[in-house]
Amino acid sequence: MTEPSTSPSARKVYLETYGCQMNIADSQTVRAVLRRAGYDATADPAEADVILLNTCAIREHAEERVIGRLSDLARLKQARPEVQLGLLGCMAQHNRAALIERAPWLDLIAGPDAYRRLPELLGRGGFEPTVDVRLDRGETYGDIAPEYEKSVRAYVTAMRGCDRFCSFCVVPYVRGRERSVPPADILREVRTLAAAGVREIVLLGQTVNAYRFDRTDFAALLRMVAAVEGVERIRFTSPHPCDMSERLIAAMAEEPRIQPYLHLPVQSGSNRVLAAMERGYTREQYLDLVERLRAAIPEIALSTDIIVGFHGEEEQDFAATLELMRTVAYDAAFTFKYSRREHTRAFRLGDSVSEAEKGRRLAEVIKLQEEMGLARNRALIGREFPVLIEGPARRGEAMLAGKTPQFKTAVFPGRAGATPGATVTVRVESASSHSLSGVIA
Ligand code: 5AD
Ligand code: SF4
Repeated sequence: MTEPSTSPSARKVYLETYGCQMNIADSQTVRAVLRRAGYDATADPAEADVILLNTCAIREHAEERVIGRLSDLARLKQARPEVQLGLLGCMAQHNRAALIERAPWLDLIAGPDAYRRLPELLGRGGFEPTVDVRLDRGETYGDIAPEYEKSVRAYVTAMRGCDRFCSFCVVPYVRGRERSVPPADILREVRTLAAAGVREIVLLGQTVNAYRFDRTDFAALLRMVAAVEGVERIRFTSPHPCDMSERLIAAMAEEPRIQPYLHLPVQSGSNRVLAAMERGYTREQYLDLVERLRAAIPEIALSTDIIVGFHGEEEQDFAATLELMRTVAYDAAFTFKYSRREHTRAFRLGDSVSEAEKGRRLAEVIKLQEEMGLARNRALIGREFPVLIEGPARRGEAMLAGKTPQFKTAVFPGRAGATPGATVTVRVESASSHSLSGVIA
C-alpha cells in the first residue's frame, strides 16, 4: 500500500526538469515511482526533503545552467543538512566524475535507466553520493503508469535510447541502446488517458520511428493507437529521416487522426557536413523524402533542427544549409550552435568554427526562418482550421489558444462552449512567424 498523498509524515520531493520532451515524460515516471514509495510532491524546494533535477547533456550551455541552479539549491541543504539533493538524467550519465568534483554536496546521481531504483537509492544515505548510472537495454518503464498533469495533450513514451550515433550527439551514450515499449503497455496507457479526457496523444522517442516490438513497427503502432476510442489526434516526435518508411507515410496519409505535421531534423544542408555528422542521408535523399511526404500528405507542415558551425563547416556548406531551408520552406526550425561534447565521435575532430562565427550563422538562419515562417503563415489568412482548444492564451483578455492539425498555435476570442478539449473551427485573420490569430467561424 502506498501512503495517502495527504499524509503529514510523507517525505516531500521537489522535481525540476530540463531539456527535451523525453525528460518531461521521464519526470512523470519518476513522480509515479516516488509516489508509490510514499513520497509527496511539492512545488516549493524550501519545504522539500528531497530535491531532484532531471537534466540534459545535449549542449554545454544546458549543463552550465544546471550547475548554476544546483549551487542555488545547495543553500537549502546548508540550512537543513538532512535534505537530499539529487541529479537525474543525461548529465548524471554523461560526466559524473566532473559532476562530483563541481558539486560535491550531491547526495544522488542517477542515470535515465535507474529511476525504478530511486526509493532504494534515496534510502541509502551516507557521506558519499549514491551513484547509479547503469544503462539497461531492457528498461522501458512500460509497466509504470506515469503521473500525468491534467492536460488536453499527453506525451507517451514509445521507445527509449538511440542506436544512430550521429557524430555530434551524446544521446546514444547517455540514454543507451534503442528499446521499444511493448504495444500492450502503450495501448493501456493511451486508453487510460483517453478515458481521463486527453484528446491528443504524442508518441515519444529519440528516434521514435525506429520503433519495433516483435512484428509491430511504428506504422502499425500508430494505427493501433489511432483505433483507441476517444483519441482525436495523434502526433509523434522525433522521427529520423532514415526511418521514414513508405508504410509510415501511408499510415499518415490514410489515418485521419494522425495529424499532418512532422518534425524532421535535417541538421545541415551540406553533403560534406552531413557525412561528417554521420547522419546517414544526403541532401538529395532528404529533399526526395520531403517531396514524397508532400505528395502523400499535401497539407503537411514541416519543422526541423539545424546545427550551425559544426567542425569543418565552411562558408559554402553554410550557404547550402540556407539554400535547403529556402527549398523546403519549413514551418518552423529549431536552430543551435554546434557544441562539442565529450564522448562523441566528433569530439576528437575539433571545433573549427569560432564562437563569433557560429553566432553570425545562427542569427542568419533564425532571420531566414522568421521570414519564411511568416510567409507560410500569411498564406493561411482567410482559411479555416479545426483547432483543439488547450486553454487561455498567454496574451490574456479572454483569448483562447490551441493548435491546428499542422501544430500551429492559433489564438482567438472565446465564446460559450469553447472550453479546453473542445475542437472549434477557426478562421485565420492575421499571422506572425510563430502563430495565427483568428475568430471562431
Ligand atoms: N551541438 C548542438 N546541437 C546539438 N544537437 C544535438 N547534439 C548537439 C550538439 N552537440 C541538436 C540537434 C538535435 C537536437 C535535439 O539538438 O539538432 O536534433
Ligand atoms: Fe542524437 Fe542522432 Fe540519435 Fe538524434 S538520431 S538522438 S541526433 S544520435
